[in-house]
Amino acid sequence: MIIGVPQEIKNNENRVALTPSGAKELSKVGHTVYVQQNAGEGSGFTDIEYQEAGAEILPTIEAVYEAAEMIVKVKEPIAQEYGLVRKDQLLFTYFHFASSEALTQAMMKSGAICLAYETVELPDRSLPLLVPMSEVAGRMSIQEGAKYLEKPMQGRGILLGGVPGVRPAKVLILGGGIVGTNAAKMAAGLGADVTIMDINLNRLRYLDDVLPANVNTFMSSEYNIRSLISSHDLIVGAVLIPGAKAPKLISRDMLREMKPGTVLVDVAVDQGGCIETCEPTTHENPTYVIDNVLHYCVANMPGAVPYTSTLALTNATLPYTLQLAKHGWEQACQQSNPLKLGLNVVRGEVVYQSVANAFNLPHVPVEKHLPQSV
Ligand SMILES: NC(=O)c1ccc[n+]([C@@H]2O[C@H](COP(=O)([O-])OP(=O)(O)OC[C@H]3O[C@@H](n4cnc5c(N)ncnc54)[C@H](O)[C@@H]3O)[C@@H](O)[C@H]2O)c1
Repeated sequence: MIIGVPQEIKNNENRVALTPSGAKELSKVGHTVYVQQNAGEGSGFTDIEYQEAGAEILPTIEAVYEAAEMIVKVKEPIAQEYGLVRKDQLLFTYFHFASSEALTQAMMKSGAICLAYETVELPDRSLPLLVPMSEVAGRMSIQEGAKYLEKPMQGRGILLGGVPGVRPAKVLILGGGIVGTNAAKMAAGLGADVTIMDINLNRLRYLDDVLPANVNTFMSSEYNIRSLISSHDLIVGAVLIPGAKAPKLISRDMLREMKPGTVLVDVAVDQGGCIETCEPTTHENPTYVIDNVLHYCVANMPGAVPYTSTLALTNATLPYTLQLAKHGWEQACQQSNPLKLGLNVVRGEVVYQSVANAFNLPHVPVEKHLPQSV
């Protein structure tokens, strides 16, 4: 198969969908890999490294879209790219269709096959191509929180791990899923006094078993959260209710109960945030202060560490890319239910129910586009 890797052109996106190592895996089994010039630069990979791995470098984004049967990307195509997508071309990337009718309409019009990272789903209902970014954001939340607790950054001026004779900072984590668990590991590793809350008792049992002794678990409820906020220095929002807006667990009035310089990192900002005063921010301008409480609400935290994020993402996507390249999307999706669930738009039709629901579009069963089983 001919695979194309364009440079990401969305504002501040430095990740790339394929590493030189991934290019090698594809080229050694006979696939042709075209990488746009400088596509890997933001993640620290040079054109020469791709060439040594068997890829060819093309000078423009137009040339990559023109040549490739399958485009592998990171972010959804933006308006400038809509016209480049060709009929019957396979696009394997994050789409988040339900948040953009314009994108949905443009991809329907293109006649392409859109396989979305975010809806590839395993039998246990986990989303293997979203997990790596939650791992990155969870770990980063503590790194950022520790930084903003410093006085010059408008924080309380407390060192997360303390020193001998001085108590460490107290970290409260709301939500014990992927983000929360990774945050807890990092905070515990730095020596903080950590509490992690969830509404799922089985999850708390598991976390109690696997996390170190300086992490305590606590059932999440408004009463319990309120009892802790005045004594904690860093609060991380990491809740998720699949398919819904995040519940508001920290209300505006609670800010006045917190110590001045407390830091709130709301990782759930992309689902509306679990802190009432959360507004999305960017890496250029990541924080703001309300009632002497510092808020960090960057919606694409992994974007700040493109080297790690690219490797984490491509570790997860490459096995699927290899399957798609080997069998073609029709056979690959017929053989693999996780991949089949990734199909969102196929040849002008919406085949993913929640995307159709979002814009009142007709939903066509995906099987219509797949070969009949024998
Ligand atoms: N800002 C970013 O850059 C970024 C990056 C990755 C993920 N995220 C977001 O982080 C959030 C968490 O993602 P995840 O992968 O950890 O999800 P997850 O499903 O693994 O975990 C969510 C956890 O929240 C718990 N929860 C639900 N309601 C709760 C409540 N009222 N109190 C306490 N816990 C509650 C659930 O039981 C679950 O354990 C999501 O909104 C995700 O979109 C943001």
